[in-house]
Amino acid sequence: MSRGEVTIREESLPELVRAGLDSGLLTFVLGAGEAVREADTVFSCVGTPMSQDGDLDMTAVDAVIDEIRDRLRPGCVLVTKSTVPVGTAARLTRRLGRPDVQVASNPEFLREGTSVHDFLHPDRVVVGAESREAAEHVAALYAKLDAPMMITDAASAELIKYAANCFLAVKLSYVNVIAELCERVGADIGQVTTALGKDHRIGGAFLRPGPGWGGSCLPKDTRAMLRAAESADIDFRMLRAAIDVNVHQRERITDKIARVCGTDSAAPLDGVRLGVLGLTFKAGTDDLRDSPATAIAQELSRLGAELVAYDPALSTGSHPPEPVPGVTIVDDPYQAAKGAAGLVLFTEWPEFRDLDWGRMAAVLDRAVIVDTRNHLDPEALRTARIAWHGVGVRPVV
Ligand code: UGA
Repeated sequence: MSRGEVTIREESLPELVRAGLDSGLLTFVLGAGEAVREADTVFSCVGTPMSQDGDLDMTAVDAVIDEIRDRLRPGCVLVTKSTVPVGTAARLTRRLGRPDVQVASNPEFLREGTSVHDFLHPDRVVVGAESREAAEHVAALYAKLDAPMMITDAASAELIKYAANCFLAVKLSYVNVIAELCERVGADIGQVTTALGKDHRIGGAFLRPGPGWGGSCLPKDTRAMLRAAESADIDFRMLRAAIDVNVHQRERITDKIARVCGTDSAAPLDGVRLGVLGLTFKAGTDDLRDSPATAIAQELSRLGAELVAYDPALSTGSHPPEPVPGVTIVDDPYQAAKGAAGLVLFTEWPEFRDLDWGRMAAVLDRAVIVDTRNHLDPEALRTARIAWHGVGVRPVV
């Protein structure tokens, strides 16, 4: 990092790190103790992954406390950025055992791929602490941002983060069911969501149907919230339904691919070759964690399909040849399509819109595409004589 080499794909981050290093405002040191020694504010931003048993793994959060306990400057504020269960600030205060250090919660709402933009242009900044003074100390760091500032108690700040991500998941599952209904009744999900989005009470964002929501946050946070509700003796039925719908969505997309690209036999995908466009959980990131694409691809592979995939963020040079079991990764979208009984688009990379569909039609064995994001222009495909099957919309064949 000290050389300015950013190993994750994140828009504008390499430039930001480079500018920080060049100006001397950003330095990297080894060891958390060394980093916090002279700080007035310390941000803990470590990961809180889901452990095997479905609980949040707080090992890294706790390890930070133990590592910095004796190094913190008296009067400094320790801020948790990580997504942590409600009550963590209180627990960390006890674990830290330093009455001269306040603990605050400052959840982040950044999306992977656009985190620098989201940080500089937040919809709101939330800072929660038991001490108003500590919260105001943290809030002052954001003074230059043009964003509403909310100072809350620590538990509310922690809950806001989960409540936001779970709301988004519920919204997406709702849209995915409306899309399924559209297919049954002959309606068009694009027209429905456009009209829904014009209602400012609903809002136009997060209304795109897809192969299901994934990534390292929404799946983990919905499960954690469900558990937290259970512990509080609340049956969060709506959230459980959203999670169930998300599982169903992956199955539904798998069935659609089998129906559109498979044979008429009892094992429609057995020995069928499929080309795949996109494996990351969304465009703009190289993250495969909990990607609906990889889950569906593995299921297709289990059903006997041979999958060859192209993703702009996964080159065969930088990644192991088979980061997804059963899927061969290639460096060229036309190579992925070559000889395939159909093409499946999982990730909405903008460049997929500009593919040469005439060339694609020529290399495909069967000129058909299942577009799980309604990302492509069906008319451009029709011109190239490729049948298009979207989600929640009539096919264009
Ligand atoms: C999510 C939240 O959006 C951020 O606000 C939050 O800070 C972050 O989690 C986190 O907790 O750290 P992220 O995981 O980067 O961000 O991904 P999103 O952009 O929210 O997308 C999540 C999933 O929903 C993806 O699989 C995406 O493809 C899907 N999605 C999103 C749709 O299917 N349709 C949409 O209209 C929007």
